[in-house]
Amino acid sequence: MEIELAKSYGFCFGVKRAIKIAEEHPGASTLGPLIHNNMEIARLKKDFNVSLANSLEEVKEGQATVIRTHGIPKNDLKKLKEKGGEVIDATCPFVTKPQQIVEEMSEEGYDIVIFGDVNHPEIKGVMSYATGPVHAVLSVEELSRLHLRERVAVVAQTTRKIEEYNKIVNYLVPRHKEVRVFNTICNATFENQDAARELARRADVMVVIGGKQSSNTKQLYTICKQYCPDTYHIESKEELEPAWFAGKKLCGITAGASTPEWIIEEIIGKIREFKV
Ligand code: F3S
Repeated sequence: MEIELAKSYGFCFGVKRAIKIAEEHPGASTLGPLIHNNMEIARLKKDFNVSLANSLEEVKEGQATVIRTHGIPKNDLKKLKEKGGEVIDATCPFVTKPQQIVEEMSEEGYDIVIFGDVNHPEIKGVMSYATGPVHAVLSVEELSRLHLRERVAVVAQTTRKIEEYNKIVNYLVPRHKEVRVFNTICNATFENQDAARELARRADVMVVIGGKQSSNTKQLYTICKQYCPDTYHIESKEELEPAWFAGKKLCGITAGASTPEWIIEEIIGKIREFKV
């Protein structure tokens, strides 16, 4: 059986960068899990003594703390600094950008519309940079209920689809005197999805590797399953079953944006051991 990796898979630029930053600060703690992958978090703990603080309250006085890729609200950053430890910012630059835009546009008097989930940490962080009216919406319907002033600036959550963002923008433009549109969408997730789809079309069996909680891994699984019914979502090599590969010619592999290379290699090694 041949094993083929998707053309694009695994860690995005922001996650690679955050992990490198954490490795460079042994003994630090991260505010919230750095990535949705328990094994990688355990590795950071074992090899670099990087621990996990689930909330601001759990951060000890004087403790060096890494901010994860999603960023944190401005006020939380202030509180974190007050704890007296070093604050190491691993916010993805693609998230810092909308934070800066929101701050600037808000100061210039624009009403801010964010196309994104108000409960997502990234959006909580981005919203906190507004100094005036700010709204997070997920649909045109929600948007239509808002009373916005004449000047509006709009940004999107990094993981949103451009087609959906366009609907928001198209609704705003004819209704307001001035609309400033910023494309803050990050393509990393979509590159992995396109590559997974392309491979799943050809493969007889697909293995999707990633945390069971990771939403982008679950999305990859759904896409692959559509094209390749024998698709399996696993987190570690222990979950593999030889029967999945019996009689198959091409095994496709992809991995979510929080899956480290060493886990992918371990899983490929184990599949090879099955000698199917
Ligand atoms: Fe950054 Fe995009 Fe990854 S926003 S954290 S590079 S998915």
